[in-house]
Amino acid sequence: GKHLLGLQNVSPEEIKLILDVAKKMKNIVLSDDKKVPLLKGKSIINLFMEPSTRTRSSFELAGKYLGADVINLSPSGSSMGKGESFRDTLLTMSYMGTDAIVMRHSAEGAPLYATKAVDPIIINAGDGAHEHPTQALLDMYSILEKKESLEGLKVVIIGDIMHSRVARSNIYGLTKMGADVHLAGPRTMVYPELEKLGVTVHHDIREAVANADVVNVLRIQLERIHSALYPTNREYARIFGINNEVLKLAKDDVMVMHPGPMNRGLEIAPDVAYSDQSVIQEQVRNGVAVRMAVLYLTIIGGDGSELAY
Ligand code: CP
Repeated sequence: GKHLLGLQNVSPEEIKLILDVAKKMKNIVLSDDKKVPLLKGKSIINLFMEPSTRTRSSFELAGKYLGADVINLSPSGSSMGKGESFRDTLLTMSYMGTDAIVMRHSAEGAPLYATKAVDPIIINAGDGAHEHPTQALLDMYSILEKKESLEGLKVVIIGDIMHSRVARSNIYGLTKMGADVHLAGPRTMVYPELEKLGVTVHHDIREAVANADVVNVLRIQLERIHSALYPTNREYARIFGINNEVLKLAKDDVMVMHPGPMNRGLEIAPDVAYSDQSVIQEQVRNGVAVRMAVLYLTIIGGDGSELAY
């Protein structure tokens, strides 16, 4: 077994393997009988210390479709609410004989810490502003359903990059796969030092979106923003919001993406989110297949050729 903590230290070949296996897993998701025995006899714990709709339910479905036993644990309703420490919680999960722990935590590095504290495979489902690797993988998978290759594609990531683990994982993944990655947002959310990661930084949304193949709109994380340095919601929507008028500057076949949850009318106009250019619904659908691939490859391994789906 192998951990998945982020995409920073994953090779392009490993990313390609996960995306190829996800394609086989999607065939299972689309079939009449979704239950296969690839993880039969394995147990997975979803340990979510921060709220989640998409990631937690798709990991749960992914594990169950593959035949594993899956349990969800969160601070409310567990002894974490009585003050039991994170380390003791991990140890307790480990004593039960769990094979993998899927973990979301507000602290950057919590999954790395877990790999040192206990034996089960650790999969990062989002740690603070650090990484959210399965989101970036499902974003790349969704792009590749429409485009032949990531090589040379102009992908623009817009919004609150500074607070975004989704942005960080997408930057690592997309640059490794040869995409031309651009970031855009207010100066307090997107700073020039990010160019060290091999991306281009913009503060003018029109300049960023010009000729784009993909526009990935991030959620403004209102729960993490408490400073007069940030634009108000009204200012943000007017200057950086993605609407049909701005999108006219992109390529005709531009794909619009959003990891969810959306602030409708803030970072993205509702008619854009539900337009023909939007693949937001596909992203959610693909999340299950990509997480099946990640669970299979981390717990079982192999190169995917053994899978007849
Ligand atoms: N995109 C994403 O991680 O959504 P959730 O927070 O609902 O899991």
